[in-house]
Amino acid sequence: MEQIDTWAKIQNEEDLMNDHHAPFWRAMISQMTEADLHNASVLDFGCNQGGFLRTLFRMKPFKKGLGVDLAVKSLETAENLKGNMPLHYTTPDILNSMEHEFDTAFSHDVIYLLPDLNEHANILKRVLKPNGVYYAATGCYAEMPLWPIWKKEVESYSNVPLPDYSINDFARAFWKAGFDVALQKCIPQGFVTCWPDREAYFPEVTDFLKYYDYKIIFRFSKKD
Ligand SMILES: C[S@@+](CC[C@H](N)C(=O)[O-])C[C@H]1O[C@@H](n2cnc3c(N)ncnc32)[C@H](O)[C@@H]1O
Repeated sequence: MEQIDTWAKIQNEEDLMNDHHAPFWRAMISQMTEADLHNASVLDFGCNQGGFLRTLFRMKPFKKGLGVDLAVKSLETAENLKGNMPLHYTTPDILNSMEHEFDTAFSHDVIYLLPDLNEHANILKRVLKPNGVYYAATGCYAEMPLWPIWKKEVESYSNVPLPDYSINDFARAFWKAGFDVALQKCIPQGFVTCWPDREAYFPEVTDFLKYYDYKIIFRFSKKD
């Protein structure tokens, strides 16, 4: 796919995503099966400004991490913020020449934006090592009750077109590519901040909690 400057046409949306997503990043990291990543090579697909891998490194240090995204200005921000961490951020075409490179891969709120889930599953199958695992979290799919209003909202500022997937589509693509598929709810620990400026997404305060019933983490594991 073509490169873009930023994913969101509104810079504020792009920047605020870090605060909105951080509790879910921490939940993904706490809930993943692997406790120790010291020797692991990890991938974040759709990394945006790189916050997930920085959070992962602080919580579960790893050997090296690659973040890929179409949004080149956000990748620049990620590179500027990486400090001394063993991280590299670049566009997804780097994956074309990779095979059996990563022990663990992640994506947070990215798979719902991808135009071809079968292609995505095949890329992950190639770049993961044998028995490698891909954790993909999202709450954006047709069965999520707030999705119709979220879709309109996100479409108003997304620089990539939005498909309209069922949760079944994600599982089917990875079954087809030869993965085992498991899932659990992605539940941040402790209190949840109710942002007053998020009414477009969470019209009722209780929606902040109800969303947890639909925010899921897939665990796609390669069989060999
Ligand atoms: C909703 S944002 C989530 C960003 C980040 N994972 C997070 O948790 O904050 C979706 C990201 O996926 C990226 N993206 C969309 N389509 C993509 C594609 N085909 N390949 C790589 N990245 C893509 C966007 O540029 C954007 O940075």
